[in-house]
Amino acid sequence: MSEQESKSLIRYTQPSIGDLEVAYATDAVKNGWGAHFNDYLVKFEEHARSFVGTQHAIATSSCTGAIHLGLAALGIGRGDEIIIADANWIASVAPVVHLGATPVFVDIDATTWCLVPEAVEKAITPRTKAVIAVHLYGNLCAIDRLSDLCRRHNIALIEDCAEAIGSQWRGEQVGRFGRFSVFSFHGTKTVTTGEGGLLATNDDALAERVRMLNNHGRAAGETKQFWASEVGYKYKMSNVQAAIGCAQLERVDELIAAKRKVFQVYADGLAHLPHITFNPEPQGTRNGYWMPTVVFDRKAGVTREQLMAAFKAQNIDARPFFYPLSSLPMFNACPQNTVSYDIPARAINLPSSPHMPEADQQRVIDVLENFSAK
Ligand SMILES: Cc1ncc(COP(=O)(O)O)c(C=O)c1O
Repeated sequence: MSEQESKSLIRYTQPSIGDLEVAYATDAVKNGWGAHFNDYLVKFEEHARSFVGTQHAIATSSCTGAIHLGLAALGIGRGDEIIIADANWIASVAPVVHLGATPVFVDIDATTWCLVPEAVEKAITPRTKAVIAVHLYGNLCAIDRLSDLCRRHNIALIEDCAEAIGSQWRGEQVGRFGRFSVFSFHGTKTVTTGEGGLLATNDDALAERVRMLNNHGRAAGETKQFWASEVGYKYKMSNVQAAIGCAQLERVDELIAAKRKVFQVYADGLAHLPHITFNPEPQGTRNGYWMPTVVFDRKAGVTREQLMAAFKAQNIDARPFFYPLSSLPMFNACPQNTVSYDIPARAINLPSSPHMPEADQQRVIDVLENFSAK
């Protein structure tokens, strides 16, 4: 047996599912039909609304769907430009492309790995309609500066909080600062429904339009059955998924605390290593630490490929940092976004299941220690 096979696999993340999730899901499967077809959905949206702190929260089948609905509700389409940070997951930008709009990729900040406000401001043209601010790996974008510049230029700020549940800006949960915000409840996320998403907003008209678009273009209160007044979408969360989500939201503080503890064990265990930095947590903010991430200094001469191989050899499922979107074959390369092309090449996400045993975390720490010693 190879050394790799002799050690149990450490997955990069697994959800925390307990008796409450099983009880609610079972109840939804048994009883959530007919008159009770959306009981858990209504509860889930209400809980999410109060957690995020917005007037409206609309559950969706995915965060990608929530972005698509929100952009469509803003009327984004052909000829419009949407500014987004280059190093990101494809999901944030795919709906922009589906709507026929043009993504404009700007560089990331070397510390937060999120949008650089000055770069955003420079990229604004008369065609710019929105800025999608992704709080990457739980790290916070410069919310105040982005809000200010979007207000001055009369463009929409959209917060992509898919990875940032539990991250706080000046004591407030992220997701309440943009025209709308989106969350993901994919199976890898801190709070999960298997697949699922959420659109949150304080804008009554936008919320109504999102609900209408998500109902195949059928307006609330329409008296004619099966009457659609425009071609819409259907990105709905099911009641069974919402039941799991209700249990997860009842446990949200515990789940966020568990993620933060996982991060802290890494930060303490690796503090003595030179040449590495972690997700930042600037004063006045709290990081939900969805993905603990280490970036090696350039002078360490480390590559993502070497890091991935070192983890694989120990049967540990680490993840590469997202590639620059502009380096993907369907977009035009933007090598001028030097930080977006540089950091992912020497960074890695560490495994971070919420209730990961410390012995497993020690195996991860050992890999990085041995790696650094070479
Ligand atoms: C930043 C970001 N935005 C959007 C999404 C899309 O989420 P979903 O998989 O729920 O569609 C993800 C998913 O991982 C993400 O990380």
